[in-house]
Amino acid sequence: MGVVIDSPGHVVFRDLPAPPAQLEKGYYLVEMAAAPINPSDLMYIEGRYPASAPTAPGKLRVGGFEGTGIVRAAGGGDAKHSMVNHPVALWIPEGGTWAHQVVVPAHLVMELPKGVSLGLGSPWVNPLTALALVQKAQNHHDPMTGKSLKPVAVALTAAASSLGRMIIRLAAEKKSNLVVLGIVRKAEQCDQLRSLGCEHCFTTTDPAFDDQFREAAAHLNCTLCYDCVGGSLPGRILRLMPPGSTVVVYGSLDPQPTLDGLSPMDLLIHGKRIEGFHLHMFLEAIGKKDTAKLMTTARDKWAGPLATSINKRLPMDQVSNALEEYRRNMSAGKVLLTGPAMPPEELRQPPSAEAPAAQSTAPTQAHTSQPGSSS
Ligand SMILES: NC(=O)c1ccc[n+]([C@@H]2O[C@H](COP(=O)([O-])OP(=O)(O)OC[C@H]3O[C@@H](n4cnc5c(N)ncnc54)[C@H](OP(=O)(O)O)[C@@H]3O)[C@@H](O)[C@H]2O)c1
Repeated sequence: MGVVIDSPGHVVFRDLPAPPAQLEKGYYLVEMAAAPINPSDLMYIEGRYPASAPTAPGKLRVGGFEGTGIVRAAGGGDAKHSMVNHPVALWIPEGGTWAHQVVVPAHLVMELPKGVSLGLGSPWVNPLTALALVQKAQNHHDPMTGKSLKPVAVALTAAASSLGRMIIRLAAEKKSNLVVLGIVRKAEQCDQLRSLGCEHCFTTTDPAFDDQFREAAAHLNCTLCYDCVGGSLPGRILRLMPPGSTVVVYGSLDPQPTLDGLSPMDLLIHGKRIEGFHLHMFLEAIGKKDTAKLMTTARDKWAGPLATSINKRLPMDQVSNALEEYRRNMSAGKVLLTGPAMPPEELRQPPSAEAPAAQSTAPTQAHTSQPGSSS
């Protein structure tokens, strides 16, 4: 069973073809426990994500790009038999984690960090992205002098998102050398973000936004912005930032598929730049060794600054309700779709306090974790 996108904007929970009786070498069969709903899932369902491109006739589009589960079978080779019954996190770039069972190549599967529950571990792209964006910001130099900045000031749109909160918590760590200028569209979110350590927070719907943000960006020498909203916001922000500034677009929450409001004069005369960031391409560019280092850091911080708040858990057959819940209040935390491998004891936990690490039937050294999130 799984969640199939049967037409743009419409999903249905239905039977899926059974997995092969004999797994191919290098593949795992994973029984799914939890998979979050992310902005990319909404775009996929609405038909405006790369994975939404036409597929082979008859091929089903199954929702979900990431999640967690328990390995039930291994095909050998890179898919090791010793992983059977172990909890894992997995990623399927073409979509497919909103299913009870999935067959995935070994390189898209990683053992769940110790101390992280199946629920808390299921949104794992955001923690890696937050770390990558923070490291990129820490290497940002003054565009006019080329000198290193102390501290680096970085503006962050949709700052109350799960990923935004992770970046804010990482910036609040000692020696981060980062100051975040949080940008949201709802004023009440600024209070929540200040309590996480984001001292400078701005609301785009406030008539004073342009003046306040321009002044703060100049004062703090903020020449880097991470934007995941798209539409007219990156152009608006770039116009307000000092000469030489860069806006890095890493999301497209605004359903308008293009960026507008960019001023050619800002690019031509004021040396401002706009560029994109995608985790997948970033990991390919840094290579396996640095990706492994990033994952190790992510594991260490998973239950701390990289923790995800979970708002609701609903079984996959309630996908329509789950999507509605998520759309209604995206900043309240993740809505998880749960599958058959979700342990009943974890389901009994209140969602915002996820259960301790998943127990595999194989021996593990799992220990208790508590999310450090605050939404
Ligand atoms: N490039 C990459 O590799 C990569 C990797 C991971 C995530 N991402 C992107 O990172 C972003 C955040 O993801 P997430 O999972 O952390 O999100 P999330 O927790 O689900 O929260 C979404 C946030 O977006 C805000 N929002 C939604 N529509 C908006 C709009 N039209 N204008 C302004 N704000 C809007 C919501 O604020 P309200 O409370 O105001 O609704 C909410 O705070 C997404 O765009 C996602 O696609 C990119």
